[in-house]
Amino acid sequence: MSAYLEVAGVNQNFGGLQALNDCGFTIQEGHVTCLVGPNGAGKTTIFNVITGFLRPDTGSVSFRGRRLDGLSPQAIVREGIARSFQNLRLFADLTALDNVMVALPGAFGEDPLGALFRPLHTARVEQRRRAEAMERLAHVGLAERAKDRVRNLSYGEQKLLTVARLLATGAELLLLDEPASGLAAGALDQVMALLRRLRDEGKTLLVVEHNTRVVQQIADQVLFLHQGHLMAEGTPQQIIADPALAEIYFGGAL
Ligand SMILES: Nc1ncnc2c1ncn2[C@@H]1O[C@H](COP(=O)(O)OP(=O)(O)O)[C@@H](O)[C@H]1O
Ligand SMILES: [Mg+2]
Repeated sequence: MSAYLEVAGVNQNFGGLQALNDCGFTIQEGHVTCLVGPNGAGKTTIFNVITGFLRPDTGSVSFRGRRLDGLSPQAIVREGIARSFQNLRLFADLTALDNVMVALPGAFGEDPLGALFRPLHTARVEQRRRAEAMERLAHVGLAERAKDRVRNLSYGEQKLLTVARLLATGAELLLLDEPASGLAAGALDQVMALLRRLRDEGKTLLVVEHNTRVVQQIADQVLFLHQGHLMAEGTPQQIIADPALAEIYFGGAL
C-alpha cells in the first residue's frame, strides 16, 4: 500500500545553501501532522516543493501513489492539495467573501462570452458560487464579516480567512504555514479549535508550528526538521520531551 503523502530524497540548493538535504517523510491520511524545527530548517521550502512552487534539484513527492513533482501549483490543487502562506497573501481591498470566491474551482475558467449570450445562466452560476463562498466563511466563523474589506479585519480574522480560502479549493490535504503565529490567546484558541474540527471532518493537515502548546494540542504526529533533513519524528510528547531536540530548537533556553 502506498503512503498518503510521501516525500523522498529531496535536495534543494539555493546558490550554495543546502536548504533541503535528503529530506524525506510520510504523512498519514486523517492526521494532523506538525512540522517543527528552528528558523531556516527548510519548513517553508518543503511546502514550496510539495505544492509545486519549487522544483527541487532531486527527489520526489507522491500523493496517493501518484507523482506530483513536475506538476504546476494549479494542477497540484486539482490533485487535492492546497496551502496557505506565512504572509497570508490576501487581497486587502477586496471583501472577505470575494477573497473566498476567487479560490473556488474554476474562478478564472469561465467562458467570457457566456456572460453575454447566457446572462440568466451566468447570474445563476454566480449566485451559486456566492452561496458556496458564504458557506466556507461560515465554516470558519466569519459569516458576519463577509462584506467587510480584508484590511478592516483583525489579524486573527485574516488567519481564519486564509483557512476559508483553503476550504474553497475543495482540497483534502491542507498545508498551513504558521497558522497560529502572531495571535493572542483568544484567536489562538479559535484557530486551534478550527484545525481540530477540520481533522474530525475528514481533512488531513500538515502544519508548520512553533508554539509547543499548539503542537501538543493539535498534533497526532510531529516531524522535526533540522538543516533541511528529517531529524526525528514521533508523538508530540516524544518530541517535546527529547532534550537533544530542545537544545537544537531553543538553544538550551528551556
Ligand atoms: N528562494 C530562496 N532563495 C535563497 N534562499 C532561500 C530561498 N528560500 C529559502 N531560502 C533559504 O533556505 C533556508 C530554509 O528556509 P525556509 O524553508 O524558509 O526555513 P523555515 O521555513 O524552516 O524557517 C533558509 O536559510 C533560507 O534563507
Ligand atoms: Mg518558514
